[in-house]
Amino acid sequence: MKFFVDTAEISEIASLADSGLVDGVTTNPSLIAKSGRNFIEVVREIADLIHGPVSAEVVALDKDGMLREAEVLRKIARNVCIKLPLTLEGLKACKALSDEGVMTNVTLCFSANQALLAAKAGASFISPFIGRLDDISQDGMQLIEDIRHIYDNYEFKTEILAASVRHPVHVLQAAKIGADVATMPPSVIRALAMHPLTDKGLETFAADWLKSGQTII
Ligand code: E4P
Repeated sequence: MKFFVDTAEISEIASLADSGLVDGVTTNPSLIAKSGRNFIEVVREIADLIHGPVSAEVVALDKDGMLREAEVLRKIARNVCIKLPLTLEGLKACKALSDEGVMTNVTLCFSANQALLAAKAGASFISPFIGRLDDISQDGMQLIEDIRHIYDNYEFKTEILAASVRHPVHVLQAAKIGADVATMPPSVIRALAMHPLTDKGLETFAADWLKSGQTII
């Protein structure tokens, strides 16, 4: 499973990049606004730090407007992935871009039928939003399972990018189902490494080692 980090905060991305655990980055207009930085500059800096796909989202609502914006975003770096909304206009833009070999991420997916359309439009990634479905009492993880089933039935190459991930259990469940990628906030990536028994075990080992009076170096 690939891990993408869902943020536009350069310092967070840089510190996680050192761990070797980050395969890509996703941004959206809200994350860019939260960063308070210039969109193009932030995407350029992220694309310098991370060699994998860096999703940059269009804001136009019509196909031609999306394609014009995609033209600008594509020029930022070779690893920029054009993020498009799951609307009919977004799907048309996705088809046009994928026909040209441009990497695309179709976002704001909330149903398996939407995901089916994105695959038919040649999307590189489909982003089903788990957390936002859970928020309205629908089962976000069931959506991941349904998409996996449909994509496997037809051998679609579109990668399932589990998005709107809120906590480590989302990552575990998405991995068990076979989502290709999970994009998550930096705090969730860090939380995956945590276990109280690891901390307790380390404390005991350190205390016992001290008693032994030995050193390794
Ligand atoms: C993914 O591409 C989105 O940026 C993100 O996962 C949305 O997450 P949220 O629902 O927590 O805002």
